[in-house]
Amino acid sequence: MRRIAGVGAAVIGTGFIGTVHVEALRRIGVQVRGVLGSTPQRGADRAETLGVPKAYDSLEDLLADPAVEVVHVTSPNDLHVAQARAILAAGRHVVCEKPLAMTAAGSAELVELAAASGLVNATNFNIRYYPLNQHARESVASGTLGDVRLVTGRYFQDWLLLESDWNWRLQPDRGGALRAVGDIGSHWLDLMTYITGQRIAEVMADLTTFIPTRHEPTGPVETYATARSTDTVARPIGTEDAAAILLRFEDGARGSVSISQISPGRKNSLQYEIDGSAAALAWDSEQPDQAWIGHRDRPNEILIRNPALMGAAGQAASALPGGHVEGFFDTFCAHFRAVYADVVAGASSSRPGYPTFADGHDEVLVGDAIAESARTGRWVTVDRAATPSHIPQGVAR
Ligand SMILES: NC(=O)c1ccc[n+]([C@@H]2O[C@H](COP(=O)([O-])OP(=O)(O)OC[C@H]3O[C@@H](n4cnc5c(N)ncnc54)[C@H](O)[C@@H]3O)[C@@H](O)[C@H]2O)c1
Repeated sequence: MRRIAGVGAAVIGTGFIGTVHVEALRRIGVQVRGVLGSTPQRGADRAETLGVPKAYDSLEDLLADPAVEVVHVTSPNDLHVAQARAILAAGRHVVCEKPLAMTAAGSAELVELAAASGLVNATNFNIRYYPLNQHARESVASGTLGDVRLVTGRYFQDWLLLESDWNWRLQPDRGGALRAVGDIGSHWLDLMTYITGQRIAEVMADLTTFIPTRHEPTGPVETYATARSTDTVARPIGTEDAAAILLRFEDGARGSVSISQISPGRKNSLQYEIDGSAAALAWDSEQPDQAWIGHRDRPNEILIRNPALMGAAGQAASALPGGHVEGFFDTFCAHFRAVYADVVAGASSSRPGYPTFADGHDEVLVGDAIAESARTGRWVTVDRAATPSHIPQGVAR
């Protein structure tokens, strides 16, 4: 049988998360053949720093390399659809960063193309792959929490707190019409659908732009960079710094989430609590090796991640014994191990356990409903009617 160690991959984008993809792929044994940067020179510089054998000059150059079987898309959001379309057309498996597309038309097209090709397709909702999130999904599925009633939480960051903070995500033509919701809210919304097994049916959203003008540096800016340029241009900002969203899930659960990129001190704090009829479970991405389990009639518990105390999915996502803290990087390894199991099999399995393009598309539809609700001040139903029924649905279904 083929093994992951024989598979060749390439990574498009060499910024913050492209680097994480390269290193996670290496850790699971995939051969990273090369990278593609925004320019041949930038790609060459990053290839040298990362110790990758090759920088491609263009996407055509990359796709002409027969050693590349899988391509990872980690470029800014506006490039995802065109690049993923070209990769599928060239017969290569594809792992694309979230958000899958900036419009539902774009994400629906990718779902259709991927389904028609039979190729492996994944959207990188890596947060599912913290072992305790795998455990949480198993706990809901096995009935340990009882009926899921209330799903609450937040995703807060502070890296866009100041009006001098700048990134391509602030430009709607590069990042999309939704910013905080599309960039980080999409992770929380996907995670709750994944864990509860319930898609989001209706939303009521309030989006706010607290900083209406920002100062764009005249030179390039790395994601999360804190150095400030003095040479800037004032730019009006229309996308949301923060969001408050009420949620109704398909099987009756209710929820709410707050999302912010302007919360001082919160670096990357995704939190949730799922209250069921029998027990509750809460988790915080800044303490990712611990889950709180709440009880009514006996003392509450703290579960320290431990393969010996979790089900099969939690064990599969764990690389280390309990007490040896796992984190963000490890989620990429666990996700990619699941995806590359299909790659070595040669095709997408009929019901992949990892997040596919269908899951990426569903989050774009939820985002559209959130944007419409914020515009109209009303509850909005997530419109899945236009998605052809013959194409795959997300993993919750
Ligand atoms: N899953 C996660 O946890 C996670 C975290 C961060 C970012 N992301 C996603 O990853 C993507 C990239 O985000 P980032 O934070 O790494 O941004 P970044 O700005 O740090 O990196 C983007 C990279 O893409 C390169 N690029 C630009 N145009 C290109 C082109 N035409 N061809 C090839 N490369 C090009 C840039 O030079 C840069 O190296 C976004 O879609 C973002 O939403 C996901």
